[in-house]
Amino acid sequence: MENIIDIKNGFKVMMASAAFALCPLFSLAENGVEINHLGVSNTLVRVTGDGDYLILPVQEANDDARINVLVDGKIAETIYVRLAKSKTDYTVPFDLSPYKGKNVILDIVTPQGRSSVREAKEDVCWKGISVSDSFDNSDKETKYRPAYHHTPLYGWMNDPNGMFYKDGKWHLYYQYNPYGSKWQNMTWGHSVSSDLVNWEHMPLAIKPNGLGSVFSGSCVVDREGSAGFGKDAIIALYTSAGTSQMQSLASSRDNGTTFDILHSNPVLTLESEARDPNMFWNEKTGEWNLVLAHALDHEMLFFTSPDLKKWTLQSGFGKGEGCQDGVWECPDLFELPVAGSNDKKWVLICNINPGGPFGGSAIQYFVGDWDGKTFTADTDASGKIPTKWLDYGKDNYALVSWSDAPEGRRTAIGWMSNWQYAAEVPTMQYRSANTLPREIGLFRGPDGEIYASSVPSPELLELRGKLACNSGKTGINKKGKTFQLPAANNGICEILVDFESQKASAVTLTLANKQGDKVTMTYNPADRTMAFDRRESGQVDFSEGFPAVTVSPTFENDGKISLRIYVDRSSIELFGNDGKFVMTNLVFPNEPYTTLTVSSTGSNAKLDSLKVYSLNAN
Ligand code: FRU
Repeated sequence: MENIIDIKNGFKVMMASAAFALCPLFSLAENGVEINHLGVSNTLVRVTGDGDYLILPVQEANDDARINVLVDGKIAETIYVRLAKSKTDYTVPFDLSPYKGKNVILDIVTPQGRSSVREAKEDVCWKGISVSDSFDNSDKETKYRPAYHHTPLYGWMNDPNGMFYKDGKWHLYYQYNPYGSKWQNMTWGHSVSSDLVNWEHMPLAIKPNGLGSVFSGSCVVDREGSAGFGKDAIIALYTSAGTSQMQSLASSRDNGTTFDILHSNPVLTLESEARDPNMFWNEKTGEWNLVLAHALDHEMLFFTSPDLKKWTLQSGFGKGEGCQDGVWECPDLFELPVAGSNDKKWVLICNINPGGPFGGSAIQYFVGDWDGKTFTADTDASGKIPTKWLDYGKDNYALVSWSDAPEGRRTAIGWMSNWQYAAEVPTMQYRSANTLPREIGLFRGPDGEIYASSVPSPELLELRGKLACNSGKTGINKKGKTFQLPAANNGICEILVDFESQKASAVTLTLANKQGDKVTMTYNPADRTMAFDRRESGQVDFSEGFPAVTVSPTFENDGKISLRIYVDRSSIELFGNDGKFVMTNLVFPNEPYTTLTVSSTGSNAKLDSLKVYSLNAN
């Protein structure tokens, strides 16, 4: 992580001066602000100094202050910030550059709880608010910030949004709070990559406006300019979340860096809560298709459009089907070939929260057919529509795919967390990473059913560094064989393990460190499952929902297991048998895991191969 980043341009710049950071005394003039307290809970902060950022001190335990940013007397933005009362946990920058040369006043309403103006004046935030030319983004989370997963530089992130591929670049937007590391101020953050591993941070793409904050949605490349913004315009459709939820359109003529919000928004309204529009061009019917989550009704709604603006409701799917717990959110719909056959099938992704198999958030999906208007789900041998899960860990949610990915790829990414504890995880400068990008496929399981697979995107192979460990074929027993993991780089590595196990011999892989933290991954041939146990993985008690054992079917019937495991400081992603089963789980070890032990409860198991690669990432 680079030290000082000009967050507006995404360029690395040298810090102009450390004076602001080091200055021990704060006076109104030095800080570039004039502060007038108007009462117990109302304060005006007038920007008097020159600089690109207004630095705001945050204390996470506080409630949000509502800040109306008045520019020449008009409300330009409203943001919510947990302004520091007794101590500053971290600071966040408010971008002043669009308002250069204008009168900027922050009209701040702090949460109640002070008994007098004198007490309100004691809040530490007033001394800390300051104008500055730079904002220090240097990484303060070296222990847990992933080395090769996408994270925001600072602030809260949830769902990936609006991903599209164009001209060799993978665009990734995300639900972002630029003013704190808890959910609030939903804005589309933006990052771009040419290899799905290294991400450049871009300016905020879509900010809250009069219709509300900017919830999840999708983007398409409008090749023919059907929406009226020219050929190859990028069109975003997202949920405006104000008093109610409605769908809004924004267009970009600079490949997704800046968006113009349609003045006549919203383009689609319903009489009940619906969100997270996901649209795509349907080659066969020559129309735009859209899936919208009818959240509380536990169904997905389908619309068609000639121009991305006028949407006609065609049908719904899901009432009474699959897992009906929680809310249905973040849909996706795409067609894929079924491995080993000439068949093609459609996959309807339906993220649900709560109601996942291990508590909280999870990705449910349905396999079936789509004719451009109606989705018909496949039934199983008993005539029922089966409930299927894309990931058998606790930390893959809101997964959606890139539109226009090259070579027919269906590349997808999820938010690597869970609403049960996302706001509690032990990081502060930033909260949440995205999963590794994955290629989604379809295969026929031993029961004849069609299932979705996920394998790490091929670009990840570029990360492989030294082969740190390479075992030949060997038997394994109760005591197990222990291998050293690469020490460099906080133990980040890729582990490839092939083993065979018959009836009575469960096989366990244990990642451990000297502090006694451990994660076990156990294959049980009796019921053909893999269990991932993180109950003693390190810091686990920040939330009741965190310590857990997650269990996945292995979709095989021969006891042959091949695992590809990615370890990245605070996450473990296990891809089994070419992605037929996947488990994405967060871990917060007190120090990096240093050893991997492979053991078996019986004598009928053997290790065919074990390779550990260190990874070239930092
Ligand atoms: C899913 C979700 C979406 C919504 C977004 C708001 O995690 O609840 O349905 O658009 O988060 O941030």
